[in-house]
Amino acid sequence: MSMVFATGKYLKITHRSSIVAQFELKPPPYPLVALEPHLSRQTLEHHWGKHQKGYVENLNQQILGTELDGMGLEDIILASYNKGDPLPAFNNAAQIWNHEFFWESMKPGGGGKPSGDLLHLIERDFGSFKDFLREFVDTASAHCGSGWVWITYKANKLNVDNAVNPRPSENDYKIVVARTPNAVNPLVWDYSPLLTIDVWEHAYYLDYENRRAKYVSTIMEKLVAWDVVSSRLEVAKSRAAERAREEEERKRREEEFESEEEIDESEMFLNSDPEESEAE
Ligand SMILES: [Fe+2]
Repeated sequence: MSMVFATGKYLKITHRSSIVAQFELKPPPYPLVALEPHLSRQTLEHHWGKHQKGYVENLNQQILGTELDGMGLEDIILASYNKGDPLPAFNNAAQIWNHEFFWESMKPGGGGKPSGDLLHLIERDFGSFKDFLREFVDTASAHCGSGWVWITYKANKLNVDNAVNPRPSENDYKIVVARTPNAVNPLVWDYSPLLTIDVWEHAYYLDYENRRAKYVSTIMEKLVAWDVVSSRLEVAKSRAAERAREEEERKRREEEFESEEEIDESEMFLNSDPEESEAE
């Protein structure tokens, strides 16, 4: 017996009448047949219905009764990444987040070209949309083994203290193509993910065998939900602007505090008795 209770979680009432919060297997936002002929129903049935289901079941077992139990998925990812020395729950938590994000990055009849600010930033940061596409597909092809390829918005003006920033010389407030091994998610670098494609073999082998570049370029041309990616960019920019405001406010308070301390010190000096000082 169970009931939905919050984003990604539901309450499960066990046979012993104890109640635990558990993550649920969230379905893609379209039927499993909807991405054909580019991604087959069989691929989605295996990928979502078996692989993703396994990550959900494993995570629910792993966090039961631990300090991670009760946390949201992103908080579990950040906590279990453990500054680059991941705890056992990290892979399952990040794989759930990555897969949900992947399904929502696509839609039937998608692909083509983005528009608006997203297109403007891509052209600014990559030269042209064509050059961007080439870098994205090349990055996916160059990745050795299992992992993910991402479009992210990098706005981390603040220090990244959760992990080593892989591109510390990159300018901030720009679009970055990144690839990550296994389950790693750019959230741990404080980047804002905008789109991802799963490049584990289980994602494409049934439909494309070993032709990973063909699989990735087909998704980019036929399936990407650019409207969703644009919405994510708006959220990422708002978040970055909010954090920049908070940082400015923090600096302003620090400066105020320092100038108050200087005033206090000069008042102490003015109020001190020079004769007493000389007598000492
Ligand atoms: Fe996958």
